[in-house]
Amino acid sequence: MKSIADKYGRVHDYLRISLTDRCNLNCVYCYPSFAGIKLTDKSDLLSFEEILRLVKIFAGKLGFKKIRFTGGEPLVRKNVMDLFSMIKNLKQLYSFKTAITTNGTLLNDKIYDLKKYGIDKINISLDSLKEDNFKSITGRDNFYDVISAIFNAKKAGYDNLKINCVVMKGINDCEILDFADFAVKENLNIRFIEYMPFSNNGWNDKEFFSYKEIFNKISEKYELIPAFSNGSVSKDFKIKNNNGVISFISSISDNFCSTCSRLRITAKGNLRLCLFSPQSNELNLQSLLNNSSISDSDIADIIKDYLLLKPKEHPVTEELVKLDLNYMLTNGG
Ligand code: 5AD
Repeated sequence: MKSIADKYGRVHDYLRISLTDRCNLNCVYCYPSFAGIKLTDKSDLLSFEEILRLVKIFAGKLGFKKIRFTGGEPLVRKNVMDLFSMIKNLKQLYSFKTAITTNGTLLNDKIYDLKKYGIDKINISLDSLKEDNFKSITGRDNFYDVISAIFNAKKAGYDNLKINCVVMKGINDCEILDFADFAVKENLNIRFIEYMPFSNNGWNDKEFFSYKEIFNKISEKYELIPAFSNGSVSKDFKIKNNNGVISFISSISDNFCSTCSRLRITAKGNLRLCLFSPQSNELNLQSLLNNSSISDSDIADIIKDYLLLKPKEHPVTEELVKLDLNYMLTNGG
């Protein structure tokens, strides 16, 4: 069986492809208006043909089993459904699963198409259950669009929905129990994500709220029972005598690098080994694709070798805050 591993023996079979670094929200922890992020020119984005070729290489030649489309906000990419319909044909040739991570604002009228084009899983980001707090975190008025998208996605058959909530002290930590209630009432998987530092996102440890603190808060009301985790990043818990699942993504207080199976491709076609890799370490796949003397097998070999450079762990927080030009938007979520 085909598969690729890094020098620490970690098999890599999960690819995240950013379709755009544009986003229609301005979340305080990701895309604050003061960050001055230089976005990719539209003409430099990977074309659909290039994305399809990369998917063929990763799924067909390197044994990747899961491909997630991210952003920015993936659903702002023009004609994105055309891409997904072509991806569906590839799914039938090579067996891999597809997923998207979305902010949910544009999801309502796209859910049935996503189902039709075989998108297997949807993760929706939602950091507040209050309209006014949603607005102060995201800078936008789309709270009810996202809430209705959650219900509509369930109706469309996405019963394994995951809701991502980035927890920040003094901003939404007061809503942790509301989110736990929401998980129970609507039978959802709420995933609490530790606030991570990126360039100019204003990260500081005073706003940091660790997974243990979140866990303790939830334990005031619910008993959490460890559940088998099928993903490599989250710590998952059932809620005793209730529906719903609570997960924690503790990238900062307890990293999960030892089980990392992911590679990322940015919107302009650079391969990244880690969410926190410096931009100078990216592998420019778009230029390889544009070179007619380089075949798909050559590109697969180059990727295999490149993976051997993956570090054992991402740097510690004190180093992360100093990294230059490293944004979640341009890294591809
Ligand atoms: N810290 C933690 N999570 C973040 N996300 C974006 N920026 C940050 C950050 N600084 C989240 C998004 C999305 C997921 C892919 O990552 O909200 O849910």
